[in-house]
Amino acid sequence: MQRISVLFVCLGNICRSPMAEALFASLAAGRGLGDRFDVDSAGTGSYHTGSPPHPRTVEVLRRNGIAATSVARTVIPEDFQRFDLVLAMDGQNLRDLQRVAPASARAGVHLVLDPVGGGDVPDPYGGDLQDYVRTFDLLKPALDAWLDRLAG
Ligand code: 4NP
Repeated sequence: MQRISVLFVCLGNICRSPMAEALFASLAAGRGLGDRFDVDSAGTGSYHTGSPPHPRTVEVLRRNGIAATSVARTVIPEDFQRFDLVLAMDGQNLRDLQRVAPASARAGVHLVLDPVGGGDVPDPYGGDLQDYVRTFDLLKPALDAWLDRLAG
């Protein structure tokens, strides 16, 4: 069966999008659908290129039995050809993505919270662990809903 490729995007690619990437992969694997998806994440900004996920993102994932292995990188125009779906964490990310997307973009670009009513995943950067737990709790039902849509 054709694999579906999904790119999660936030600003720094160290807090929200690596969490979404690892959680989505884990939820897919939990449904026995690990081999149906290719997942990655990227940032609209390049401040943290080459960095691992933020320690609080790593900790929240670890508490849920999930490893975070991504390395931060910036979104590039080719991503819109390579990926089927590009999922932005907030409206600013979405606007920034629309500026980078080439006219020939193949990917569908959406807010990650679209299937659960839309809105933003607030940036937890600079916040405490509870802020990162809130990020996880916002993302989880949305990612389950994307899986329902994509694999249902
Ligand atoms: P993220 O959080 O977009 O969820 O990775 C941020 C991380 C770093 C910065 C901003 C947001 N920063 O400005 O360095």
